[in-house]
Amino acid sequence: MLTFPLRTERLVLEPLEHRDRDAFVAYRRDPAVARWQSWDVDWSAADADALIAAQPAAVASGSGEWLQLAVRTVSDGSLAGDVAVHAHADQPDTYELGVTLAAATQGRGIATEALAAVVAGLFQVGAHRLLAVTDARNTPAARVFRGLGFRHEGRAVDADWFKGEWSSLDTWALLRLEALGGDR
Ligand SMILES: CC(C)(COP(=O)(O)OP(=O)(O)OC[C@H]1O[C@@H](n2cnc3c(N)ncnc32)[C@H](O)[C@@H]1OP(=O)(O)O)[C@@H](O)C(=O)NCCC(=O)NCCS
Repeated sequence: MLTFPLRTERLVLEPLEHRDRDAFVAYRRDPAVARWQSWDVDWSAADADALIAAQPAAVASGSGEWLQLAVRTVSDGSLAGDVAVHAHADQPDTYELGVTLAAATQGRGIATEALAAVVAGLFQVGAHRLLAVTDARNTPAARVFRGLGFRHEGRAVDADWFKGEWSSLDTWALLRLEALGGDR
């Protein structure tokens, strides 16, 4: 099982806590940050409290649970964003990832650095397949997953009724064998 904190040169990742709430709510309410995400700009402190209270302590293979990791900067401990990890319930050792950064911390390689640590950590503890699902219009997210070596597995066209319109969804995936340079 993944253990925390995960550390990189610039970042520390560990499960989101109550002390993260105000910064977490502030960036989730930013229209540009919420645009391609499941929540909307009316996301509230109460929503955040409920999410944090319901968090599992760890994310176990096959659990079906989501764990939201705070991405904090080493320099001052501030919350740059979060990485979400979802252990699929229907397949063992299969995890979906999501990433969100506050606008002020975007464009510095922080999402890539944070996800790279989670990807490496998950493969270290036996993950078989990692995936991400992004709105087809979300170019920054596509760049991040492609840059980390995720394959574009496909596009489900006009498959999702999302914020008042049909949206297309891209799936990105990376196998342990691919990441470690092995053959299928
Ligand atoms: C998706 C999201 C996290 C991507 O953020 P991002 O800042 O573009 O990604 P990174 O932090 O990896 O930064 C990469 C950018 O920083 C630049 N950069 C600057 N310094 C860098 C460094 N030291 N190392 C690497 N990249 C650096 C890169 O060139 C790249 O810029 P480019 O995209 O113009 O080429 C962000 O757009 C976001 O939070 N969106 C809202 C939430 C969302 O939709 N999430 C996706 C759901 S899965």
